[in-house]
Amino acid sequence: MSAQENKTGLPLVHLGITRPEELSALFADLRGRFNADCACALDESSWKQFRDTWLGRKSGVLAQITDNWLKPATPELKRAVGQQLNELRAHVESQIESRRAAIETGTEETARDRVDLSLPGVIRPVGSRHLVRQVFQEIEDIFFSIGFSVVDGPEIETPYYNFEALNIPEFHPVRDDMDTFYLDLPKGAPTLLLLRTHTSPMQIRTMEKQKPPVRVIVPGKVYRRDNPDATHSFAFHQIEGLAVDTDITFCDFTGTIEYFVKQFFGPSVKTRFRPSYFPFTEPSVEFDVSCPFCAGTGTAASGGTCSKCKGAAWIELFGAGMVDPAVYGFVNYDPKKVSGFAFGIGIDRLAMLKYGIDDIQVFFQNDVRFLRQFP
Ligand code: PHE
Repeated sequence: MSAQENKTGLPLVHLGITRPEELSALFADLRGRFNADCACALDESSWKQFRDTWLGRKSGVLAQITDNWLKPATPELKRAVGQQLNELRAHVESQIESRRAAIETGTEETARDRVDLSLPGVIRPVGSRHLVRQVFQEIEDIFFSIGFSVVDGPEIETPYYNFEALNIPEFHPVRDDMDTFYLDLPKGAPTLLLLRTHTSPMQIRTMEKQKPPVRVIVPGKVYRRDNPDATHSFAFHQIEGLAVDTDITFCDFTGTIEYFVKQFFGPSVKTRFRPSYFPFTEPSVEFDVSCPFCAGTGTAASGGTCSKCKGAAWIELFGAGMVDPAVYGFVNYDPKKVSGFAFGIGIDRLAMLKYGIDDIQVFFQNDVRFLRQFP
């Protein structure tokens, strides 16, 4: 029981009050306590309890004042106690009523909703795009500028799109180069499913949907069974490119690639291509760029061997080629009428080269100390 409650339980003489002037402080205390109680009555049940504490007929605070202070008061005090009590009662009754009305109309804010404007603000760290996404964007912008558009494809593919329609039949040895993740499917599933090993399946899906001219790039994640080390990861990123039309030549192909490489690494780099092999391109090439870090000399500025190209002066960039006519057969294009080129750029490698990163794993670890370096 609080001191206040205790006080209303005792006659005034026991509180040492004999003169009317001494009453003001006593009633002011009570009013303060009432106001504090009132602020805590936030819902119907706490309001009822609050009302009973103050207005309860037998033991409410006002009833106690009447019984213990007013009734036994000396004639000298009686008038003043009566007057102060009436003032307090008027205040109590009107406040209790308006609190009830506020709770009823739902305008009463709950303690949880109340805003404490003195609290310091919440500072939320602002994220940034991952470096891989930034490099995607950079490359997309370059190809947008020459009329390519972006398409997206599924990461779970059928062997038909990932292999067969790309001219890689079931027992073709290049399948061995793409150690593949197959999904565990229930017995009797209509087809095998796998995580795409490259973005090339989207060449097929795009040509199935669209007649030439086709000019698309396909950014995305690809998967191969690889043991993680500084240059290998079982998940990585590629951008596929495909251009098919009635008059696309090998010159359009090399010109496009050269434009891209110069935009990406700077105008002074040179490109070269070497013969290569992909079942879905013919001829196939491997594109190299003159090492942008030693200006194609193989020698670092400090004198030693360039650490980026290991002294080779050239850096292997990506695979590409003219679309193999056999592929057109899978998408109902007439190989006599159309021609085109395709390329598959490994994004992680390109990002590592451009930004001097020596471990591919940092792309996947999401350590903010790494991410913050590329805001
Ligand atoms: N899909 C090939 C790979 O992942 C790259 C490529 C794409 C080559 C398009 C030629 C044309 O290795």
